Amino acid sequence: MTAPALSPALLELYEEVADCPRCELARSRTVPGAGPAPADVMCIGEGPGQREDELGLPFVGAAGRFLDELLAVAGLARDAVYITNVVKCRPPGNRDPAPEEIAACAPYLERQIALVDPRVIVTLGRFAMAHWFPGEAISRIHGQPRRAGARLIVPMYHPAAALRNGALRPVLEADFAQLPRLLEQERARGAAALAPALAAPAPAVERLL
Ligand code: SF4
Ligand code: URA
Repeated sequence: MTAPALSPALLELYEEVADCPRCELARSRTVPGAGPAPADVMCIGEGPGQREDELGLPFVGAAGRFLDELLAVAGLARDAVYITNVVKCRPPGNRDPAPEEIAACAPYLERQIALVDPRVIVTLGRFAMAHWFPGEAISRIHGQPRRAGARLIVPMYHPAAALRNGALRPVLEADFAQLPRLLEQERARGAAALAPALAAPAPAVERLL
């Protein structure tokens, strides 16, 4: 697998996070993200774990192997998808990222979203979900796509949750199995938006299902 060439703007962002002093997590190495830009699908996890910290790449440990399986369920190759995390540096001992750490890192995530310009964003776990849906419960809204401007946000359980609790495995698989249909729908919507007479104004955040 050859890595696609990085856009200059994404490269600049990667160099910036490599030296980022904005929060407590700055002591570990940065794992900025990986994948093509633009990309139709972007997956956003929580934060790098030990293996990710060692390799400098997102989702390369056990959760990453399961993520690959889930992407395959959706007919997606990993190298077609842009993958990153809410925080770019590993929280010590895999603790939850703190609210101030998530807030400090959020501008990088926003810039990545702008540069990758995905049609569909898959949030993995509650921290990425909370970026769009604060106060929601993942057990209640997983697999339910919602529109945020031009993008569709699909909240999913974190793959690591299914490694701890096998009952979540088929739930995640069923949620990922929806992605081809949603992507098709968003591509058709994008094509329609090119014809201004057909384009409807995008509501801010709207429940679709
Ligand atoms: Fe900077 Fe984000 Fe790393 Fe904190 S987690 S030091 S904000 S790159
Ligand atoms: N879990 C995450 O949330 N992100 C990774 O990159 C790896 C495991």
